[in-house]
Amino acid sequence: MEQTSWSVGQVAKRCGVKVSTLHFYEQKQLIQSRRNSGNQRRYRKDVLRRIAIIKAAQKMGISLESIKEAFASLPNNRTPSTEDWQRLSLQWRDELNARITYLEKLRDSMTGCIGCGCLSMKNCPIYNRDDKLASEGSGAVILNQHSPK
Ligand code: FES
Repeated sequence: MEQTSWSVGQVAKRCGVKVSTLHFYEQKQLIQSRRNSGNQRRYRKDVLRRIAIIKAAQKMGISLESIKEAFASLPNNRTPSTEDWQRLSLQWRDELNARITYLEKLRDSMTGCIGCGCLSMKNCPIYNRDDKLASEGSGAVILNQHSPK
């Protein structure tokens, strides 16, 4: 007979994560458990897939908040199906590409700053050169212009 509910230790071992990580995911409402008569956490088998998706998304640099939003967008907060994962991973790939583009622009605009450290208002292309950007806002205006949405 197939096992229908899993203890936190079994899930942790199967997924290669710490028990504290599972508690954290649950606290963040990424996974859910129910309590048995002994008040111990029990997980359904599909939690394994959810955790696999969480780990894969985290490796793509997706925040736990974005993962939570993606899960919440599914009917009845269901565990993502193969089709759901295909759609989500495409969407997250686009976010990853936007971040890569942002980091490339940041790297290119920093070339003169590498090893410099002056942060001169006059000479530094990062630090609001000649204050030309003051009318566009305070702080790191150049960085904000290139940051992914
Ligand atoms: S830190 Fe010196 S030019 Fe940017």
